[in-house]
Amino acid sequence: MILSPTTENLSRAADVLRTGGVVAIPTETVYGLAGRIDNDRALGSIFHLKGRPADNPLIVHVSSTLEAQEVVHASAHGQLVRLAELFWPGPLTLVLPKADGVSSIVTGGLQTVAVRMPEHPIARTIIELCGSPLAAPSANRSGRPSPTTAEHVEADLGEDVMIVDGGPCRVGLESTVVRVLPDRLVILRPGVITAQELYARSGLPVDHAEDDADLIASPGTRYRHYAPNAVLTIVSSEEEAHVLLSGGDKNVMILSRPEVQASFRIAIIGSLTEHDLYAELRRADDLHVERIVVLCDEAVRGNEALMNRLRKASGDGNDQDPGT
Ligand code: TXA
Ligand code: MG
Repeated sequence: MILSPTTENLSRAADVLRTGGVVAIPTETVYGLAGRIDNDRALGSIFHLKGRPADNPLIVHVSSTLEAQEVVHASAHGQLVRLAELFWPGPLTLVLPKADGVSSIVTGGLQTVAVRMPEHPIARTIIELCGSPLAAPSANRSGRPSPTTAEHVEADLGEDVMIVDGGPCRVGLESTVVRVLPDRLVILRPGVITAQELYARSGLPVDHAEDDADLIASPGTRYRHYAPNAVLTIVSSEEEAHVLLSGGDKNVMILSRPEVQASFRIAIIGSLTEHDLYAELRRADDLHVERIVVLCDEAVRGNEALMNRLRKASGDGNDQDPGT
């Protein structure tokens, strides 16, 4: 059930959350399926509705830094406050040692907790009205692209789930997730807040999670993600794209930056931007597209977050559990 974001509906949503229900809410990145972090029934519904593996931890969403301090271990409050002042509210998730009281259902049994303060006013209002931090994974069925509109959420989770409509999400890709270590940051999931920006604003060295230990630290990166039904092939030049497109497949989509679409003469042309990617992958499924040719020219290859999601959608590095 999709609700417009009137004052009355926001209090209705907060009531549902307060009493252990779940509500899909808009954030500036993607829609999240929210539930109170201290309510096991709500947390259970989140995992159940998404079909999500229990060892994949959830991001805690807060409406103030003070609230974030409640879930982060006191020894890390200094780092938390410093980074929060620089980057919050916004699309940056901080992974820090957890406070004792945080449920292991939220952290997937880890000793760390992921926390972020969203920039979207509707998300923050709902958290405030509810009076508790909210766990909120992306509101898609596991294995589907993250939802960037209320309609995407309804298509995945059905009409029984309460969805607050905030229109299309401004960013369109999930937040950057960083592990905060005493002397450096490690990017576990790239996003619109880039390594360069993290370094420029915090002065801390920034590494990328590449080895196994870091991947274990972010279980979500092990699962298959963002997968359309079509085979997705990444090419690096217009010439290569034309060769593949002339192969005779009937239902083909070309996905490229809007600036380089002019030479393509096929019916289904998609816009390759952070904002549009997930909506285009869903459109491909709706149109029963069998093959998506993605033109990753230099400009696209320079976009780490977009390339990360495209590689996952193409099946690269998704060697585990294709059913999730
Ligand atoms: O933009 C976003 O982050 C969206 C919106 C709704 O806020 N949320 C989102 O949540 O993308 P989700 O659950 O789809 O992705 C959370 C990611 C997963 O890859 C998970 O493994 C990782 O964050 N994560 C959560 N807690 C963690 C922890 N304690 N340590 C390492 N990684 C963690
Ligand atoms: Mg997700």
